Amino acid sequence: MTTPQVKLITTEDGSHSLYHEGLQETYHSFHGAFKESIHVFMLYGLDSWLARNPKKYPIRIFEVGFGTGLNAWLSLVWAEQNQIPVLYHSIEPFPLGPEIYSQLNYIEQDHGIWHYHKYFSALHEVAWNQGGPLSDYFNIKKDQVRLEDSDLYPCDVVFYDAFAPSKQPELWTKEILAPVVDAMRPGAVFTTYCAKGQLKRDLKELGLQVETLPGPPGKKEMTRAWKGV
Ligand SMILES: C[S@@+](CC[C@H](N)C(=O)[O-])C[C@H]1O[C@@H](n2cnc3c(N)ncnc32)[C@H](O)[C@@H]1O
Repeated sequence: MTTPQVKLITTEDGSHSLYHEGLQETYHSFHGAFKESIHVFMLYGLDSWLARNPKKYPIRIFEVGFGTGLNAWLSLVWAEQNQIPVLYHSIEPFPLGPEIYSQLNYIEQDHGIWHYHKYFSALHEVAWNQGGPLSDYFNIKKDQVRLEDSDLYPCDVVFYDAFAPSKQPELWTKEILAPVVDAMRPGAVFTTYCAKGQLKRDLKELGLQVETLPGPPGKKEMTRAWKGV
């Protein structure tokens, strides 16, 4: 599997993202990569999980698509700031090389989290198909594999961050979602920027309680789904 052909772009909140030339698709919303990640995955993912499960540690997160590492880094910051142990499992068939990830400006922006800047490159430097602790509260395992071929472990929070259904429809079928839903533990939450009706119908048929929520800047809606306890 090769490094993808990507171009650095600046999104509307000033944070970088990447444009995948083959798919003609960006890694994040053009309206703000940083804001999208905070909104979809931190606010409607981790914060919502914590509100329902204040004492259930460690939190096991499964991410589809490590990409720029933005979700992983924000999750590490979240774990440290909340002092909540997080076990993060991310998969990515096409890892980005240092010549790309070192250009990303997430840690150059002043979000008051300078203390955690060093972990951004550390997350990328973790060897593929290995794992271990990276900070006091954050443990990561990155697998270089496609979702189609991946081992799945029981998880509490799913960050479903694949490219859009129009670009990679094979990652949004009911068949590929079924094992992900199976791996979700009772009470687990699935969150994604995607608001397609078919996705919501499929998640519902797979037994999840589906919610349509306000989307991140520039996007009307997003999807979150819970597994019953
Ligand atoms: C929308 S990007 C998001 C990446 C990441 N979460 C981020 O914040 O940068 C989708 C990611 O899914 C990866 N991907 C592509 N095909 C995949 C597959 N079959 N299984 C899992 N991930 C895949 C892409 O390489 C890309 O990194």
